Amino acid sequence: MRVLVTGASGGVGSTLIGRLSDTGVEVRATSRRPDPQRWPGVDNVASDLGEPRTLRPALEGVDAVFLVSFAPPQVLGELAEEMAAAGVAKVVVLSTIDTTRTEPFVEYNKQRHLAVENAVIDGGFTTVCLRPGAFARNAIRFWARQIREHRSVGLPFPESQQAPIADDDIAAVAVEALTTSALDGQKIVLTGPESLTMREQVGLVGRAINASIDITLLSDAHARALYGQVLPPQYLDLLMAQWAFEVTEPADVTQAVHVVTGRPATAFGDWAVSHRDAFLP
Ligand SMILES: NC(=O)c1ccc[n+]([C@@H]2O[C@H](COP(=O)([O-])OP(=O)(O)OC[C@H]3O[C@@H](n4cnc5c(N)ncnc54)[C@H](OP(=O)(O)O)[C@@H]3O)[C@@H](O)[C@H]2O)c1
Repeated sequence: MRVLVTGASGGVGSTLIGRLSDTGVEVRATSRRPDPQRWPGVDNVASDLGEPRTLRPALEGVDAVFLVSFAPPQVLGELAEEMAAAGVAKVVVLSTIDTTRTEPFVEYNKQRHLAVENAVIDGGFTTVCLRPGAFARNAIRFWARQIREHRSVGLPFPESQQAPIADDDIAAVAVEALTTSALDGQKIVLTGPESLTMREQVGLVGRAINASIDITLLSDAHARALYGQVLPPQYLDLLMAQWAFEVTEPADVTQAVHVVTGRPATAFGDWAVSHRDAFLP
């Protein structure tokens, strides 16, 4: 069996390549700027999901695709055609929990991911949609630099709650989805094991690096200036509204990682310990 992993240089994609290689599956990796040094022995091919024709070399001889949702809506039909023409039978989509939500602020992200899910389903592939909630890795993306440089984190909504999920847990479920028929046709909401406020998450990062991390309350304008450095404008609006909303109720928690993999989802504190280097100066 040959599996194409798109988004190969990203957090979930790179973890998935390691896990799939361990199972003996033949893996091909693709992203716009592939790094051949990263996966010696893995076929690493450049392609752009925004231009589906560029995927032809990557898709050759592939049975199943792990698809990150970066193709814009106007090319999704063409992307499905390219995969079908190459003989792909199964597609596992990395989608989002936002596809299940109804608040107006998720609409942009929800529609973007639903469009990919639907294009794959309509393309006639055996489909599994993985719908994760907030990634634990967001702590690195949003906070690591602040922690490394100042041992403090600026937050507009410290009591905002998420159930952060580890990339490796998503990858473990993706392996099951790609290599067995057990999850065929399912749309699976994946979360970490517990709802934690951002204040609690920062505390757990502090414990992982044996340091006390201050939390600074940010105004709306200050937060937008800070987080706008790592987020495109449409996601900045979405997240500011979402973080404000999440103050009012705990994050949804599902048991899907445990049910699919047979082991509990990784606790955020354990994830922080295994990623502590990212937060150290
Ligand atoms: N962050 C969260 O909390 C969260 C929660 C739920 C769902 N998600 C979803 O998870 C997915 C991954 O997000 P992420 O931010 O974590 O990604 P990421 O780890 O930064 O990885 C993105 C990967 O996709 C590749 N890529 C991006 N645009 C591409 C394109 N046009 N063509 C081909 N490859 C492309 C990148 O490599 P190149 O740059 O080399 O192309 C990279 O390998 C997104 O769909 C996101 O909406 C995120």
